Amino acid sequence: YSEDLILGLETSCDDTGCAIVNNKGELLSESLHSQNLMHLRNGGIIPDIARDLHSMFVEPVVTETLRNAKVSMDSIVAIAVTVKPGLPLSLAVGMKYAKYLARKYNKPIIPIHHMEAHALAARMQHNITFPYLTLLISGGHCLLAVVQDVTHFKLLGESIDMGPGEMFDKVARRMKLRNIPEYSKTCGGQAVEIAASKATNPQIFKLPLPLSDYKDCNFSFNGLKTSVLLHLHRKEREHEITADKLIPEVNDLCAAMLMATSRHLVHRTQRAMEFCQQNNLIPDNNKQLIVSGGVACNNYIFSTLTLLCHEFNYNIYRPSPKLCTDNGVMIAWNGLEKWRKRLDIVNNLNTIDIEGT
Ligand code: KG4
Ligand code: ZN
Repeated sequence: YSEDLILGLETSCDDTGCAIVNNKGELLSESLHSQNLMHLRNGGIIPDIARDLHSMFVEPVVTETLRNAKVSMDSIVAIAVTVKPGLPLSLAVGMKYAKYLARKYNKPIIPIHHMEAHALAARMQHNITFPYLTLLISGGHCLLAVVQDVTHFKLLGESIDMGPGEMFDKVARRMKLRNIPEYSKTCGGQAVEIAASKATNPQIFKLPLPLSDYKDCNFSFNGLKTSVLLHLHRKEREHEITADKLIPEVNDLCAAMLMATSRHLVHRTQRAMEFCQQNNLIPDNNKQLIVSGGVACNNYIFSTLTLLCHEFNYNIYRPSPKLCTDNGVMIAWNGLEKWRKRLDIVNNLNTIDIEGT
């Protein structure tokens, strides 16, 4: 191989992901081991279990990626690895393995910020020029930022409590959606999206618009979650529901929650667009919104953001679903973006360490 190949490794949360890209940005291979089913069974991520599963799967996942790309470690020019933010125990597994490979094969490491990787991933599939606006919505995160270039991000606002995905996961669990076979193997967010599509009367549930009085770009989902749970509790008492039964209005409540979430996301994104306009952060001929993170897979949320973008003359993009959720490809891609500009290439491995959240 005469081309520069970058290997990317992601272990920040509950997915062990690896990928190899070439210097044209083409994906040679990828491998992903998701711990989702295990954590669904436990009702959430238990950090020790996540770490143990990463330890078990990191080597097979990397080996499989190399094998599918038909290359050996010798043809890799640099190893990109997620160093923050994430679960410290999980991050450490990927870091340790990346350092082991870097020492053994004498390769530099490119440290990657997980959220920056989410923010840049769309550039792998679309021709999106800097600077652009990004909305990152996942389980643990919700933020708006201007991506100025590969290593410069201006944070406009973020969640003051949890991400929308965490709210969906917790509410779905409390609604007992998993007791319906159709939803037993999906994450909470997907279950909520499918249930919401079957709603007939979502307006029977009134939900608040979070932070409506604040003129900033921050988010909050705790109050929304509490309001949904109060409705759920009231309906359970009304129908005298016990044990593993669901309320009959479960689809309507899911739709109401999804609509309220969209309203909130649209409201804050509109604020961000106005802020960018006032402060000349994004030129008129470059108005682009990139939506990414697991929750960006939600078609209802994406369609409401699309309407907003039409109104404000923004183009909207999102990576394909597999690239929206956590994966190794976006880490390899971010590694390549840094490699091309010779940014953050670390040869002295002792200088890098993990930084959890
Ligand atoms: O980005 P991600 O894979 O992991 C992090 O949280 O970093 O996102 C996972 C989250 C989960 O909370 C999941 O419920 C949510 O994304 N999610 C969705 C959908 N698919 C995944 N939420 C709403 N609608 C979906 N279709
Ligand atoms: Zn993520």
